Amino acid sequence: MAGPPASLSGQDEGSFAYLTIKDRIPQILTKAIDTLHRHKSEFFEKHGEKGTEAEKKAISLLSKLRNELQTDKPIIPFVEEFVDTDIWNQYIEYQQSLLNENDGKPRWFYSPWLFVECYMYRRIHEAVIQSPPIDDFDVFKESKDQNFFESQESIIALCTHLQEVVTTIRDLDENQLKDEFFRLLQISLWGNKCDLSLSGGETSSQKTNIMNSLEELKPLILVNDMEHLWSLLNNCKKTRGKASITRVDIVLDNSGFELVTDLVLADFLLSAQLATEIHFYGKTIPWFVSDATIRDFNWLIEQVKGSNHKWMSKCGADWETYIKVGRWVYHDHIFWTLPHEFCVMSQVAPDLYAELQKAHLILFKGDLNYRKLTGDRKWEFTVPFHQALRGFHPAPLCSIRTLKAEVQVGLWPGQAEQYIASEPSWMTTGKYGVFQFDGPL
Ligand code: F6P
Ligand code: MG
Repeated sequence: MAGPPASLSGQDEGSFAYLTIKDRIPQILTKAIDTLHRHKSEFFEKHGEKGTEAEKKAISLLSKLRNELQTDKPIIPFVEEFVDTDIWNQYIEYQQSLLNENDGKPRWFYSPWLFVECYMYRRIHEAVIQSPPIDDFDVFKESKDQNFFESQESIIALCTHLQEVVTTIRDLDENQLKDEFFRLLQISLWGNKCDLSLSGGETSSQKTNIMNSLEELKPLILVNDMEHLWSLLNNCKKTRGKASITRVDIVLDNSGFELVTDLVLADFLLSAQLATEIHFYGKTIPWFVSDATIRDFNWLIEQVKGSNHKWMSKCGADWETYIKVGRWVYHDHIFWTLPHEFCVMSQVAPDLYAELQKAHLILFKGDLNYRKLTGDRKWEFTVPFHQALRGFHPAPLCSIRTLKAEVQVGLWPGQAEQYIASEPSWMTTGKYGVFQFDGPL
């Protein structure tokens, strides 16, 4: 049987992968260096001379990294001891083993894009942990927080809406509940436009009230399996016994506005009794600029709770209670910041795979998760999603993603061709989105 298609890679000049490695990633590195610079006096105040030395060291390591990238140097192993160093170095060796003898070592523009892009973020982390006492500094924190503050108006509107729904939820009939479920799913989808890595680390917040745009945005949903999600969860609700649970797992993506949309959806799922438990998965290290870590998760809930706005603050208080009583559970796992495709999760991280198997439904937020679900490969557009998952089926799952990379499966024949002619960059601007489900119907 033929193997899977080749990986997307910077080898393909002019491709989005190529442009990302050439332009976007160096820009993100420059921004990280600049952020360290700007915190110089803060490091000095906190740690004295040692802080200044550490800042210089981190900057010089990042400058070296930028130079390696821009001159397409070989990918070198990690040197600093960390929980995932061995797995990473094994993976670098594995990439090496895939090359012909003449190809030399894995390189930035030559190796799979997914691998080198993940490697870049892991190297940023290495530069920071090699620079104590500033070794827990998150170079992206400022941008993530800014995204949250700039989206205030939209967040207030969303929280107010949620509270209106929650207080009247008992009066809603099944159709109204379903409409509300679809509304909050779409808000969570479009919330994924707000990531900061596509924009090279520049601000990308939600300035207008997203709820007013949903109708207009509907035609931009290329695969829409929302009905499957409803049937699955509504069926669980109807058939579950008093003591049994319905668990929905959400593999989070970006902090800031997108995270608010995910928490609003999670709150609704509990309030509507479509789920009884929500499990969240975040990143253990700063990742793809805006991805949520436990610090971002806690910080954001704290901010929402501390807001002067009555309904926003009520949301924050409720969310804190969900965590306290264990109806919301947050998980960390290093697998999410490894470069591996999800089809190898059961071998590389069997504990995580077993955890996901406990869910009735898993929602994978965002583009990077989609790339990992499909292996970031050059699939034909019409290949079924199930096939592109290559055996990754821990539980029924759904990707909720705006398109920011040149990979998309599960389209109708001719569907992609409609866009290709008129909009050459239709796959990489975040304009289009999918709800793509895989599981028994
Ligand atoms: O380069 C742009 C990019 O980094 C893509 O590589 C990546 O898939 C995406 O942005 C991140 O998007 P998201 O936050 O939706 O995963
Ligand atoms: Mg992201």
